[in-house]
Amino acid sequence: MLNKIQSRYTNESSSNCNLSCGSNLDYLKITPGESILDLGCGRGNETIQAALLTGPEGRAIGLDITQAMIDTAFINAKETGVTNAAFLLGDIENLPFDPSVFDAVMSNCVINHAKSKEKVYQEIFRVLKCGGRFIISDAVTKEALPPEVKRDPEAWAQCFGGAITEKEYLEGILAAGFIHIDVLKRREYLKNGYDFISLTIKAVKEVK
Ligand SMILES: C[S@@+](CC[C@H](N)C(=O)[O-])C[C@H]1O[C@@H](n2cnc3c(N)ncnc32)[C@H](O)[C@@H]1O
Repeated sequence: MLNKIQSRYTNESSSNCNLSCGSNLDYLKITPGESILDLGCGRGNETIQAALLTGPEGRAIGLDITQAMIDTAFINAKETGVTNAAFLLGDIENLPFDPSVFDAVMSNCVINHAKSKEKVYQEIFRVLKCGGRFIISDAVTKEALPPEVKRDPEAWAQCFGGAITEKEYLEGILAAGFIHIDVLKRREYLKNGYDFISLTIKAVKEVK
């Protein structure tokens, strides 16, 4: 699965095609000085915008599993002149960060690619500070996809085969420990003959 995903995004790292399910920045309501993590940052455009919103006292880190995307993100940041954005190669299922270091996590059209969505939500929970929030946009399905689609690496790479149901998705977030979960945006569409939903979700890690 991973090879196909990296191969797709290596090809798209130098193109201008739109890779996102819509921007999350307005929902994130970033304030100066905050520490932001962008999971699956792609070419880094939203990470850079987030870094600008945090101001010089804050920072934004973009993480991506495709080296070519990280390289493009570095170039884009340099061209923008932003100095508080950093980019790391890594897997959203094993975040290379200490616990409780980010005020907010965002992710746009990425988690459907992960083998274990539950692991991703657990990792987001771990790295968020108490009271921290995430805004995630992703593709989910109304019904479970057939096994032959779920097994197809090409379908996974196309933001399709790895999608789980809306119910499973929200249950996974709840199981990771998040309490206040809001669906901010929900758009139904048809993809390859299957009923899909584009979801934007907000959740908060409760203050203990
Ligand atoms: C659809 S693109 C979205 C890029 C960006 N978030 C945007 O909205 O433009 C998905 C990105 O997720 C990255 N990705 C896929 N699986 C990943 C994983 N397990 N860990 C980290 N990044 C991953 C891909 O390399 C790609 O850059």
